[in-house]
Amino acid sequence: MSVSLIILAAGKGTRMNSDLPKVLHPLGSAPLLHHALHAGQSLDPEQIVVVAGHGAAQVEKAARAFDAGIEVVLQAEQLGTGHAVAQAAPLLADAAGDAIVLYGDTPFVRAETLQTMLDARARHAVVVLGFEAADPGRYGRLITSGDTLDRIVEFKDATDEERAITLCNSGVICAEASTLFALVSKLGNDNAAGEYYLTDIIALARAEGLSAGVVICDEAETLGINTRAELSRAEAAFQARMRAEAMENGVTLADPATTYFAMDTVIGRDTTIGPNVVFGPRVTIESGAEIRAFCHLEGCHISRGATVGPFARLRPGAELAEDVHVGNFVEIKNAVLDEGVKVGHLTYLGDAHVGEHTNIGAGTITCNYDGANKHHTEIGPRVFIGSNTMLVAPVTVGRDAMTGSGSVITADVPAEALAVARAKQENKPGLAVRLMERFQKIKADRQKGKQ
Ligand code: UD1
Ligand code: CA
Repeated sequence: MSVSLIILAAGKGTRMNSDLPKVLHPLGSAPLLHHALHAGQSLDPEQIVVVAGHGAAQVEKAARAFDAGIEVVLQAEQLGTGHAVAQAAPLLADAAGDAIVLYGDTPFVRAETLQTMLDARARHAVVVLGFEAADPGRYGRLITSGDTLDRIVEFKDATDEERAITLCNSGVICAEASTLFALVSKLGNDNAAGEYYLTDIIALARAEGLSAGVVICDEAETLGINTRAELSRAEAAFQARMRAEAMENGVTLADPATTYFAMDTVIGRDTTIGPNVVFGPRVTIESGAEIRAFCHLEGCHISRGATVGPFARLRPGAELAEDVHVGNFVEIKNAVLDEGVKVGHLTYLGDAHVGEHTNIGAGTITCNYDGANKHHTEIGPRVFIGSNTMLVAPVTVGRDAMTGSGSVITADVPAEALAVARAKQENKPGLAVRLMERFQKIKADRQKGKQ
């Protein structure tokens, strides 16, 4: 049975008070929109249509970044959730099977819940995701009789008696695509808000003799983001879930409350994460690695047995092979470190490849940027880079070579050679003492002058 997704993401999100469209605000380092897409994608949808309006160009870009096959349709004026769904109709005219409507600002709906809705379609033509609200506030209320859903009434249009109902509408709806669009095409906007309410399709369906039902989920799943305060609470909930999942998967978190995950962080079993570690997007860590305190990682891969930090920064394109050691105050960007490489202290490696078992001395820098272009540094296996070596790229250091401490390497170093590129040392006997006497005298004269 094939399924398509319609993601509503046209709203302005006025209460975010932001130039950024609401659905692009980040949660776990990923736009809210990606969370909804992530849950939906687990159903292996035939087609995904995002309905965009405010900031449509940005929303389209973010949708395509998630999956290039996503289609985006413009809802120029936001005339209501029913009107928004109708915009997707031309793109899904030939869609066989079911369509599920999700909101781009509702990040926590679980894949399992969506599957339960699809299963419930065996019993009902239209399935709505509902929840028992602790504080029903302004949510739409579900009017049921027994196992069937009769209609949904929006808060604005509800009587006091209806407002007393606590079973609320999450907004997620599932029906056969053709049924959904047929119902949506019949919607009117004669209501308190003057909007085309998607929720009115329930009463329309029932009037046509179609059955409608409710799948109930936990209220936490339906949490929508409308304000920055809600976003911060959602972030806390997201982090709590990721921490719990990591520990269940066999990852040790020394101080879970200070580990920050991204939506796509993947960490293998028996890896240990020290306190105050932040994961940006696209980090994968294999089993048995160790990330020590105060590291910031994004866009990188860390292999089995590697150790990183404390105080290390791995930026996009950092690839650490097995048993690599990256120590304190080291920054690595777009660089591949082969097995057993050691970069212990105070180093920047950017746009580089380092061969296996090479040792990079403290204070080494790959000078990769000339002010306009980036250049590559190639370091062979079993090389010893002396402390405070400047590697002015493009440059190659051959296998089993060495560089002298403090060298500025501007020319390629052949395999097995020692390169020394620094001023030669000269010793001047007694000069230190004579100089110091002179400096002390200058100081004393100056102080006398002040009195
Ligand atoms: C909607 C439901 C309500 C439900 C609540 C759950 C309707 C009429 N009401 O109300 O029953 O309890 O969600 O949160 O459906 N959107 C568009 N285009 C539009 C209007 C909305 O894309 O023209 C998008 C918004 O960006 C948002 C979502 O649809 O992501 C929901 O819209 P919103 O205005 O927040 O609906 P609610 O009034 O909260
Ligand atoms: Ca809302």
